[in-house]
Amino acid sequence: MKIGILRETALGERRVALVPESVERLVRAGHEVLIESGAGDGANFTDAAYESAGGSVVDGVAISAQAAIVAGVQKPSEAVVSALREDTVVIALLQARSDPGVVKSLAGRKVSALSMELVPRIARAQRMDVLSSQASIAGYKAVLIAASSLGKYFPMMMTAAGTIPPAKVLVLGAGVAGLQAIATARRLGSVVNAYDVRAAAREQVESLGAEFIEAPAQEDAETAGGYAREQSEEERERQREFLKGHVSASDALITTAAVPGRPAPRIVTADMVDAMRPGSVIVDLAAESGGNVEVTSPGEVVERGGVSVHGPLNVPSSMAWHASTLYSRNVLSLLELIIDREGSLNLDFGDEVIAAMCVTHGGELRGLE
Ligand code: NAI
Repeated sequence: MKIGILRETALGERRVALVPESVERLVRAGHEVLIESGAGDGANFTDAAYESAGGSVVDGVAISAQAAIVAGVQKPSEAVVSALREDTVVIALLQARSDPGVVKSLAGRKVSALSMELVPRIARAQRMDVLSSQASIAGYKAVLIAASSLGKYFPMMMTAAGTIPPAKVLVLGAGVAGLQAIATARRLGSVVNAYDVRAAAREQVESLGAEFIEAPAQEDAETAGGYAREQSEEERERQREFLKGHVSASDALITTAAVPGRPAPRIVTADMVDAMRPGSVIVDLAAESGGNVEVTSPGEVVERGGVSVHGPLNVPSSMAWHASTLYSRNVLSLLELIIDREGSLNLDFGDEVIAAMCVTHGGELRGLE
C-alpha cells in the first residue's frame, strides 16, 4: 500500500504526521511510504532520515496522485483536497465537528476521511489517542512556560543566603493536560493544588503528590462518557467564590478546563486576576477554545497588574519532535487497524473505533448531521 505524508501548511504548525521510526515499521511491513520533501523540517526530521528509514522523498503532487492513504496533522489545504483521487483515505486532525467545510470538500472528492480527534476514549483505542498524547505535551510545556516566566524558584532552596520557600502552583482542570502539568510542577519541586469538577480526579491528583481542593457540597459533574458536563451559572458563581482565595495565593496558575463541544468554562474572572500578587503567572491552556481566564488573549501574553497571562496556541507544535513522534505512533496504530494482514485496506464500520473516526466515505458524510 502507498502511504503519503504531507508537509503541513497551517501557520505555525511544526509537527509531521509520521516520523522516520514509523516509516521504517511501515516499510518493513511491505508498504511504500512517500514523504513530501521538507515535511519533517519543522520537527527536525530531515529528508535524509526518511530516506534512511526506507521512504521515498517526493513532491506534494506525487503524493496526491499516487498515495492510497494520505496522513497529515492538520486538515489538508484545498489544493491538496482537489488533487486527491477517489477512494483515497485521509487521516488528520480534521476538527470535523467544529469545521465541517473540509469534510464536505473531501466528501465531494469521494475520499474516506478519518478524523484523529474523534478517536473514542476507550481502552482499546488508547494507542491511537492523539487527544491524550498531545494534551500531555501541552500540560508539560505549560509548566515550563510558567516556570520560565515566574521570577521565583519552583523548588524550595536552602542557600547560604537563607531558605527560599517553594512556589505555589494551582492547576484548574485535572484531565490529561492538567495531570501532566501537576506531575511536571511536582518534579520541579513546587507545592501543587488542583481542582476539577469530576470527583474521580481527586485520587489521580493525590497520587501525583498534589492536594485536591474541593468546593463544599460540590456535586460530581462527570458524565457517563467520562467527561465533565457544563456547569450551571449558579454552580459557576459558587465555584469562583470558592476558588478566589486559592487563585490569589498561587504564584503560578495553570488552567486546562474543557467541556467537549462547548466553549471553555470561564472560571477565573478579571477580579480574581487583580487579586493575585504582582509577578504571578497564569498559563491558560484553554486559550484555543476561548480561555478559562477572562483576560486571556489567545496567542498573546497579557500583562495585568504585574500578572502575566499567557494564552498559548498549538502548544504541542512548540515541542514538535516528541509531539510528532507520539502523533506518529497514534497514526501507525490506526494504520495497523485499517490495513489487513494481506496489506489491503479494510475500513470495517462494524469496528467502533473506525465507525467513530470516519467522517466521510463513498461521497457521504457520516455522523456529522
Ligand atoms: P477535557 O480536555 O475535556 O477537560 C479537561 C478537564 O477539565 C477535565 O478533567 C474536566 O473534568 C475539567 N473541567 C471541565 N469543566 C471544569 C470546570 N468548570 N472546573 C474545573 N474543571 C473542569 O478532558 P480530557 O483531559 O480529554 O479527559 C477527559 C476524561 O477522559 C478524563 O476523565 C480522562 O481520565 C478520560 N480519558 C480516558 C481515556 C481512556 O482511554 N479511557 C483516555 C484519556 C482520557
